[in-house]
Amino acid sequence: MKDKLIIGVFLLASVQLLAQNTMTLKVDQAKTKIKKEIYGQFSEHLGTCIYEGIYVGKDSKIPNVDGFRTDVVNAFKELKVPVLRWPGGCFADTYHWKDGIGPKENRPSIVNVHWGNVTEDNSFGTHEFLNFCELIDTEPYLSINVGSGTVQEATEWVEYVTSSNENPMSELRKKNGREDPWDVKFFGIGNETWGCGGEMRPEYYADIYRHYAGYIRGNGLQKIAVGPSSNDYNWTEKMMIGLQDKKHLVQTLSLHHYTLPTNSWTGSKGSSTEFGEEMYFKTLKNTIVVDELIQKHLAIMDKYDPEKRISLAVDEWGTWYDALPGTNPGFLQQQNTVRDAIVAAINLNIFNNNADRVSMCNIAQVVNVLQAMILTKGEQMVKTPTYYVFKLYNVHQEANLIPTEVKCGNYEFNGEKLPAVTASASIKDGVTSITLCNLNPNKAELVECNIAGAEYKTAKGQIVNGKNITDYNAFGQAEKVNIAPFEVAKPKNGKLTLELPAHSVVLVQLQ
Ligand code: AHR
Repeated sequence: MKDKLIIGVFLLASVQLLAQNTMTLKVDQAKTKIKKEIYGQFSEHLGTCIYEGIYVGKDSKIPNVDGFRTDVVNAFKELKVPVLRWPGGCFADTYHWKDGIGPKENRPSIVNVHWGNVTEDNSFGTHEFLNFCELIDTEPYLSINVGSGTVQEATEWVEYVTSSNENPMSELRKKNGREDPWDVKFFGIGNETWGCGGEMRPEYYADIYRHYAGYIRGNGLQKIAVGPSSNDYNWTEKMMIGLQDKKHLVQTLSLHHYTLPTNSWTGSKGSSTEFGEEMYFKTLKNTIVVDELIQKHLAIMDKYDPEKRISLAVDEWGTWYDALPGTNPGFLQQQNTVRDAIVAAINLNIFNNNADRVSMCNIAQVVNVLQAMILTKGEQMVKTPTYYVFKLYNVHQEANLIPTEVKCGNYEFNGEKLPAVTASASIKDGVTSITLCNLNPNKAELVECNIAGAEYKTAKGQIVNGKNITDYNAFGQAEKVNIAPFEVAKPKNGKLTLELPAHSVVLVQLQ
């Protein structure tokens, strides 16, 4: 009798455990394409992102292709970077593109006033950036100087890179060694014009935007207006009012949201490697909020643009911690742990699930800065946990989003709650890809996926995880965090049960 009772209690507990998290996939409703640009990257003249991180010059002893680090080029090719934003960031609004063209010995040196006041020689300019994009097969996204530039400077830059007509700018480009225009369609008109990009009010910037966008001409150009920072709903409202009668001038509004564990820009932001569960929880809480930000900004946009012509780009996002001890604080160098992998997965699931309106997202930044894909030190390079999450998730690029319903328990800490699991799914070429993230650092989570209506013969899985939430990949050591195979049982009766280990990111592919 006692034995039966124990078995009964055990069965009940397992059923409850099984039933606690469910994910239902509505495969028949998979219609919206997840734009590959959601997996975009951002590169700024900041610290060692460009110089050292990407570009070392042809004479460097670090192996390179035309001055671009070979290891970094290969890592990006493998990652399938769909779009790369450049030259900033705050730097963009001090950047005069003509300083970065022509023979390198004639290019003036400049001081990077936003980031560490370092002097740079402009050896990486328009040609280098656009050639680099061609080399790694990525779409370039140029951020135009509005803060300290002019309309003429902006229109000439666009002509220089895109024009195939005969005109002074295309002649200059040819003289500098490039016969054909490059294929550039994304142009940001200013960056953070509410802050480092000009300290403007939205009403003023909306007019400035109209002025620039009216002069920037070309077929199929995607013009991106500066949108809000995090929850600045007033900015979105004023921008939409200001652009309401000129919607053809704007294709996208951008949103910037950084994840700061302490939510404080002025005090300590917290260490990138030394943190406990309290900071871990706060980091996740301050990142998952991006879903609410997206919904609320879109609701305002829809009020003034009911046809939904203007999309939203989260063109700067990621974690921002205190700079690593001993480094230049203006270089924003930080490590990247399992916590960052979880942050990346949470964001990418949210972006996927909003693919109907979110057209592009660019994580900050691609190498050596903030939540980077890659870290370099001299000749050494490491791929970060965030790199591996992007690699795992790139199956979603250009796939059709499968709407899902996730019902899950909570991950609780100090009386506060977060969903224990986030997920998204897509289908491409007959393969269904499900990405899931277990936020809970203390226990595995069972998820029952309901995939009724689709017949699958094979299931395979991969996982990104480490032993601890503080694990990272250090220079000169074996990787602690990367992609490993993940055992998945075959779906049975339209159901697939997964056990997600604590603090893990999982991809399951069904065919
Ligand atoms: O990514 C670092 C900086 O953060 C960018 O230059 C700026 O746009 C933002 O404030």
